[in-house]
This record gives sequence, C-alpha cells and structure tokens, in this order.
Amino acid sequence: MRRFLIAGNWKMNCGPYDAAELLEGLTERKAEISEDVDVLVCPPFVSIGMAVKYLYDTDIQVGAQNLHFEENGAFTGEISGSMLTESGCNYVIIGHSERRQYFGETDETVNKRVHKAIEHKLAPIVCVGESLEQRQKEEHFELVKNQVKKALEGVSEAEVRDVVIAYEPIWAIGTGETATPEQAQVMHEYIRTVLSDLYSEEVADQINILYGGSMKPANAKELLSQPDVDGGLIGGASLDADSFSEIITIAEELA
Ligand code: PGA
Repeated sequence: MRRFLIAGNWKMNCGPYDAAELLEGLTERKAEISEDVDVLVCPPFVSIGMAVKYLYDTDIQVGAQNLHFEENGAFTGEISGSMLTESGCNYVIIGHSERRQYFGETDETVNKRVHKAIEHKLAPIVCVGESLEQRQKEEHFELVKNQVKKALEGVSEAEVRDVVIAYEPIWAIGTGETATPEQAQVMHEYIRTVLSDLYSEEVADQINILYGGSMKPANAKELLSQPDVDGGLIGGASLDADSFSEIITIAEELA
C-alpha cells in the first residue's frame, strides 16, 4: 500500500540560521510522526547539513532540490548525486517547473538526472505539470503524459518503484490558486494510467503521486482525500512550522 509523503520544497529560502529556526519549530510540533506518513524537507544545498543535524533522531527525512547528472568534474556551481547521499539526503526533486522555466531544463536533462538519482539511491521526485495556456488549449493530458514518459525513459520496473511523481500545475504554484480536488484527482488518475501502460498496474499502484501547487492547511484535507493523491509537494506553506505541521497532522488523520 502507498503511504502519504508530505514533502516541503523550501526553494531559495532559509540559509542555515533560518533553517535551524524553522526546523526547531517543526520538531517541537512534530516530535513524533505516525508511521503511516513519510515527511521530508528539501532545503537549499547550503542548509542540508543543518537539516540533517537537526533531524537525525526524528522521523523527518532530508532531500535536495536538484542534482547534476554527471558524477563529478568541471561543472562549476553544480552538485552531484554522491555529494547529496554523502550529505545525508535520500530524496531529490527533479525537473521542478521553475528549473524548466528559468534554468533551461528539458525532458532530456530531467531523464539524465533521474538515472543519476537512482544510481545514488536517492528517490527522485519528478515534477510534471502544465501551464494555464496549455490547460486552456486542452493540451495538459498529452503534455503531462510526455513529461512522465520522457522522465522515465530507460528506468526499469524495479527502479521505478522508488520514483515519486509530483503533479504541479504551473498555474497553481505560488499563486494561491489551487487545482480543485477533482482536477487533481483526474490528472493523478491519468498519470497512474500512464504508469500502468509503461510498466504494469501493480507497479503503478505502488508509485506515489504527489500534488503540488498552493497546498495549505485549508485545502490539504480535500486534496489528500482523493484516492490517487498520495501526498503533497509543498512550497510556501512548508516555510511556516505551524502550517507544515498542520498538513502533516491532516495526512496522519487520513492515513
Ligand atoms: P507552492 O509551491 O506550494 O508555494 O505553490 C509548490 C512547489 O512549487 O513545489
């Protein structure tokens, strides 16, 4: 059975000092987490060490927001999979729409990063999702299908079981606008069908599909109640210890 995954994407927020404060607030509120829910924070690279230090004896895991697809070498400014594993990460976000939009990431580089993450035993959280324009033109299903297929090219059935997909409609990210629970469910169900066609129904049933885009305590219950919504990738609301803890509690109650 799938377990809820509640993941905080801190984006470019919280250097080590602010990270310590946020983590302290979070661990005060959520010293123990139900075993039916996985919780993860993804700080910026420079705060990963602080997060690992604060969270080592808690149930909260640490992930990164990106990795490079080469092993090491002359790639100024980049971070490799082995560096993340060595730093204590066990997840990594890949292909977030902000990376695709502002940093030239493509389906091809997303796929290379997915392979690198798997090689280093980092569970990839692969982000997919359409823009408002693409939705209005009714291209969203085709687009998301292609993003999923290309991200997973060459990924075996054994490997894909650890992959997480995050459906993040671009029009709902950081805008306060959320997909309705029905819109989320329809797309999540569709993604599961795509996974089932690529692998098998049994495999598709095991893969976590998170929703991302202005998830907050006020809408988390409805979103997480959808049968194919297996958790959230949470930006803004993960920067506030109260809000993030509340979402975790909602997931625990639904689990
Ligand atoms: P948001 O961000 O919750 O602030 O909309 C989600 C994300 O981009 O991962």
